[in-house]
This record gives sequence, C-alpha cells and structure tokens, in this order.
Amino acid sequence: MPGKNEKKLSKLKDFWVEFFADRKDGGHRSSDEEFISLEAKEKLFHLDGGKTLLDFGCGAGELLVYYAPEYKQLVGVDFSASMLDEASKKIRERKCGNISLIQADDKTVWDKLEYSFDRITAAGVIQYLTLQEIDNFIFNASNYLNKGGKIVLFDILDPRLYPLWKIGLFSQDAGFGKILRKVGFEFKVILSASLSNRPRDILGFAHNPYAIKKIANRYGFETIFVKSMYYEYKYHAIISRTSESREF
Ligand SMILES: C[S@@+](CC[C@H](N)C(=O)[O-])C[C@H]1O[C@@H](n2cnc3c(N)ncnc32)[C@H](O)[C@@H]1O
Repeated sequence: MPGKNEKKLSKLKDFWVEFFADRKDGGHRSSDEEFISLEAKEKLFHLDGGKTLLDFGCGAGELLVYYAPEYKQLVGVDFSASMLDEASKKIRERKCGNISLIQADDKTVWDKLEYSFDRITAAGVIQYLTLQEIDNFIFNASNYLNKGGKIVLFDILDPRLYPLWKIGLFSQDAGFGKILRKVGFEFKVILSASLSNRPRDILGFAHNPYAIKKIANRYGFETIFVKSMYYEYKYHAIISRTSESREF
C-alpha cells in the first residue's frame, strides 16, 4: 500500500497534470514572436551545439521550433495533450520535419526513447518536479546522454530571488505600502493553499541551485549556473560530465 508521502506526491502530480491539461502556451513573459525568438537565441547559446536534442516539457513547442534549424533530430516530450497539439501545429506550419513528439511524463518518457541525445533540456519545467523527481530525472537522463553531452535546465525559480520578485521589490514603482499589501496577499494565498492541500504557487517549486548541484555531482556531473537573461528571478543549470568522469 502506498505510504502517506507517496499519496501526497501522487496528488501533487495529479494537480499539475490537471493544471496543464488544457493549456496552450508555455506562459512566457510575452507571447510576441520577437520575444520568444530572443529567448530561444539565449537558450541556443547555452545549449552550445550538439546534433540531437530532447526537449523535456516542450509545451506548445514555442522554443523547440527555434531549436529545430540548429539540430539534426529533435524530440519534444510533454504530458499535456493540448500542449502537444499546439506543438504539432507549429511544427507543421514551420515545416520542421526533424522534430518528433512524445506524450509522456518524467517517469514514462525513458522507455519511449529510441536513441540517446547530445543535449537533454527542459525550460520552465523543473519547478514542477520535487527534488527527488529531479534526482530521478538527472539519473535517467544520464543514461540517455551521448558522450560529451549536456543536460541544460533552463529557467529554474531561484528561492533567493523569487519571493522578492513576488512581493514587487524589483518593480519600478515599488513602495512600502504596495510591498506590504503584496506580502499580505501572498500570506493569504499560502494559507489557503495549505488548507486545501494545493501547491503554494502555480509556478511550482523554487529549487536552490546547490541542491541541484549536489544531485548532479552524485551522478558524476559538474554544474555551471547562469542567470536567466529575461527573468530576473530565474537561473539556468548547465550540467556536463566532470573532467574525471570524462576519462572513463
Ligand atoms: C511552463 S511550460 C514550458 C513549456 C516550454 N518548455 C516552453 O518553455 O515554452 C511547462 C511544461 O512542462 C510540462 N510538464 C510539467 N511537468 C511535467 C512532467 N512531469 N512531465 C512532462 N511534462 C511536464 C507542462 O505540461 C508544460 O507544457
């Protein structure tokens, strides 16, 4: 019989599955093509080459279609059928014949893959996984990563900055009264979420970079952290084999 913790985790996963069940975009700061293309350029810079790419949690394929011209073969994975429908439309419109899509989650995806990849990436997804799930994700990804490959996790919520951003500290018109009202509002949201057993934030969990680094280290990777260029409260983790493990 599943324990209390397992039940809680499965309830949480159900919440996110339902949350994304009818979504049609990745919730970027702006849905303007110009903005998305700049975001994609930043990400391509950090992906830094490779020929094959797995985009986990590809959503509506907003970034994936920009990655397509730079790669030989790409696979987009998402558990949301509505997101994948949107991604299919975009792929057809842009004639990206090198992208295939798979409906799966962080547990089921691995058995559905037919080959391994030079780059395994996820943008704005890691916040929907617990640290234990991130651990499993990195472990499984390491088995599907080609030699010299990288796991690049984009736009992770930074727990040191996100709460400050949420209470409006970074906004141009930040003032004491306004901040105080936002703190009160956030407090109410947290209280009602914990009373109804929902996640505190629809943006998911903020994960400390050192926790990610510790997990990556355990599987023989080194991690470089980079500040997100377009979201002041997010960071990217670029995970690659350490020079010691590269020798094997
Ligand atoms: C914020 S959206 C980002 C989409 C896309 N990466 C982008 O940047 O446009 C997060 C996506 O991750 C997917 N997702 C979240 N948790 C997932 C999981 N455990 N397995 C598969 N997909 C997941 C959601 O369905 C959603 O499409």
